Amino acid sequence: MSFTVAIDGPAAAGKGTISRAVAVHFGFAHLDTGLLYRAVGARMLDGLDPVDAARTLEPSVLERGDLRAPEVAQAASKVAAIPEVRAALVDFQRAFAARAGGAVLDGRDIGTVICPEAPAKLFVTASDEVRAERRFLELRQKGVETSFEEVLAEMRERDARDSARATAPLRPAEDAVILDTSRLSIEAAVGAAIETIRTRH
Ligand code: C5P
Repeated sequence: MSFTVAIDGPAAAGKGTISRAVAVHFGFAHLDTGLLYRAVGARMLDGLDPVDAARTLEPSVLERGDLRAPEVAQAASKVAAIPEVRAALVDFQRAFAARAGGAVLDGRDIGTVICPEAPAKLFVTASDEVRAERRFLELRQKGVETSFEEVLAEMRERDARDSARATAPLRPAEDAVILDTSRLSIEAAVGAAIETIRTRH
């Protein structure tokens, strides 16, 4: 039987960490849908047309090493506003969600557009400052030279673009449980997510 967990929210709110932990806990497959948009963004930076790039995306492109770079994140949020790019990625995401054995998908529009019937939906969020601090530390650890202010400004720009776009804007589904991780440890946030999902499983 398939069981879909939809986890949405803004950049660096903890979606990835929570999704991976939830998938391990329940034995579900996990898809980070942001990687699809990042892969299209990276191919646009290579000079390809983003709609062609989305239509010809091969799963192997998700292995590209540069997908976490800040410039790829910005390119991802630009291509993500193009309706034809989003349309080209729908079938792959829905097929993944329908896997036997259960699936966790994290992104911006999983609960609203990709899997509106998902039995478990979470909207993971945190204050701008907390999210920027987490992303800043993560980037610094990877050796990326940046500042807290730069990370905060880039993150706000990306969130504003993701929230303002006409197609599949970032917003919680009406039936999503909001999980604010600003004051939660990773363990506490993961525990709260697992508890929410367990009640619907
Ligand atoms: O989640 P991540 O930060 O990797 O996503 C990169 C960008 O991809 C987001 O800023 C957003 O514009 C886009 N995205 C989206 N819909 C999704 C997942 C990501 O529009 N389901």
